This record gives sequence, C-alpha cells and structure tokens, in this order.
Amino acid sequence: MRAIQITKLEGPEAIELVDIPAPTADDAVIIDVKAAGVAFPELLQTRGQYQIKPELPFVPGAEVAGVVVAAPEGSGLEPGDRVAALCSIGGFAETTLSSPDRTFKLPDSVSFEAGASFMFNYGTVYFALIERGNLAAGETVLVHGAAGGIGTAAIQVAKAYGAGRVIGVVSTEAKGEIALAAGADEVVLADGFLDSVGRASVDIVVDPVGGDRFTDSVRAMREQGRLLVIGFTGGSIPEVKVNRLLLNNVSVVGVGWGAFAMTKPGHLMKEWDAMLPHLSSGALAPVIGPSFPLEKASDALVCLEQRAATGKVVLTV
Ligand SMILES: NC(=O)c1ccc[n+]([C@@H]2O[C@H](COP(=O)([O-])OP(=O)(O)OC[C@H]3O[C@@H](n4cnc5c(N)ncnc54)[C@H](OP(=O)(O)O)[C@@H]3O)[C@@H](O)[C@H]2O)c1
Repeated sequence: MRAIQITKLEGPEAIELVDIPAPTADDAVIIDVKAAGVAFPELLQTRGQYQIKPELPFVPGAEVAGVVVAAPEGSGLEPGDRVAALCSIGGFAETTLSSPDRTFKLPDSVSFEAGASFMFNYGTVYFALIERGNLAAGETVLVHGAAGGIGTAAIQVAKAYGAGRVIGVVSTEAKGEIALAAGADEVVLADGFLDSVGRASVDIVVDPVGGDRFTDSVRAMREQGRLLVIGFTGGSIPEVKVNRLLLNNVSVVGVGWGAFAMTKPGHLMKEWDAMLPHLSSGALAPVIGPSFPLEKASDALVCLEQRAATGKVVLTV
C-alpha cells in the first residue's frame, strides 16, 4: 500500500511516500482509509517533539475515516461499514488498523472528510462543555480562538446542547466570519474583548488560547461561572489570583480530554453516541479546511505549521 512515513526527525519536508505491506491483525478493525485528519501532533512528530515517539520509521496519522475491510467478531462492525476511527498512528496510509472501541459508525450523511475531522475536536469540546463545564440550557458561552478547530467545535456543541448565546472571540474580522458561519450568535475582537462583552456577563468561557487574556476572562464570568482551560495557543500559561475566584464564586476547570477519555473503557463510545444525533442532523459539522492528496502530506503539515489554514486540514487517500 501507499503510505507516508516519518523516517528521520527533520521536519515535515523530510517525510516520505513509501510502498509498504498493508498492516493486518485479528483483534483490530482493518480500515480502507478514505480521509485522514491532519493535526499539530503529527507536525511535532516529524521532529520527534511529541510525547508519543514511535520507533522509526513509522506512519503518522491519528484520526481517519474510511470503510471497514475486516473486523473482529463481536465488534459490531462489518466489512463495508463506513467508519471514523482514532487510530493513534498509521492513519496516513491506504490501510490502517484501529481498535473496535475507537471505531465509530459514520452516518451516510457525513462525508469521509468530516468524519476524519470530528472526534478529536468535538470529543474534547463535548468533554469540556458537558462533562466538565456542566453547560445548562440558556447559558451564555464565550469561546476564545473561535475560528479554530476547538473554537468552531465549541460554538456548535454549545448551540446543540442548548446554550442561549454564544460569543466568539477572534483576532480578525475574517476569522469572525468563520465563527459566525460555524454558528456563533456574535463575535468580538480579542483586543479589548472584555469591554465588548462586559464584566460578569457570561456563564462559561471556553479557552484554548490562554495567555494574557485570562484575567479578563475571569472578569467576564458571572457568579458561578466556569472557565474551561483547554490549551495555550497564545504562548504563555496564565496564572490566576485566586481571590478573583472567591469574590464572584467562579471556577477555573482543567480539561484534559485525551488522557482521560482514552484510558476509560467505553468512554469514547459514550461521547460518540451522545453526539451522534447532532452529527447526523448537521448541527455538528466540522469546518473543513484545505484538502491534500496523500502524496502531498508534507504540504499539508507545512500549511499547518504556517498557520495558513482555517478549518481542519485533511488528506484524501
Ligand atoms: N485539553 C485538551 O484535551 C485538548 C484537546 C485538543 C486540543 N487541545 C489544544 O487546544 C489548542 C487549540 O487547538 P485548535 O485545534 O483549536 O488550534 P487552532 O485551530 O490552530 O486554533 C487556535 C486559535 O488560537 C488563537 N491564537 C491566539 N494566539 C495564537 C498564537 N500565538 N498562535 C496560534 N494561535 C493563536 C487563534 O485564534 P485568533 O487568531 O482568532 O486569536 C487560533 O484560531 C491547542 O493548544 C491544542 O493543543 C487541547
């Protein structure tokens, strides 16, 4: 089969298109890959900078969608099923393996590109808003990095699960258009966002950005608000003066989805099943960015590195 391999840790330009035997295993689902999601960890892996460091050479690619070729008995999967899967590695290839409890039946209405763009971002955000943040109907949610992968997913999950008002925080007007298209009720610019939304005006803050806007996020929360800490794309890890939490009875809540969900048997499937009606209805619809053929995987990773993409970068196989 054709596959992309990391053979040396010299960055995205050094990855290679190779012809290798297709993987096989009796206890795994064998998937004919149609699309693979491209994410930051794969970029880091090309330099050996990610915490998961498989032995060289290896095929990267953690999230795919495709068609089942073979599945273990009792897995509930059959050859021919359209699926999305979290395969950890091996996804940038014509064939990959996935464990049955990380392989999800894809509704016919959902494209392979969307299937390969779903579970990482939406699983994280479902865990954040519903399981950690206890989103209640009618609440106001403020989303930082609202045009990004996590941000657009957060807007859609918040709306699908009954948020009253969703405000996207973005750095440019063009990103504001993306957040509005994803379903935000309004957008405000990151610069001076607290003046735009007002103090004590939101119930939940979704924060994949961190950095110097953190204190203003705390100020933006109403009594009993929850600030969901997801990531630090802004560069620095913020600190909070805890008296600010006491004064208005607000919470700062850590969200670490992968390590939690992947080590609890059945947890990923529970999240998938919970979101499935909204995925089928189109309420949860990943914003797809540029798409590259498998052999252009290097360009896809460079695109990610240069922050040139809006929406999920996808490889088609
Ligand atoms: N905790 C978890 O379980 C979990 C799971 C998945 C991902 N994450 C993390 O969540 C973060 C966001 O992921 P994502 O896929 O949404 O990324 P993304 O699509 O690149 O979006 C991140 C957003 O951050 C904003 N940003 C602000 N300052 C930035 C800077 N200096 N450099 C880059 N972006 C900056 C950008 O929006 P503006 O330009 O509009 O400000 C950008 O749209 C990452 O750190 C990722 O590792 C955490």
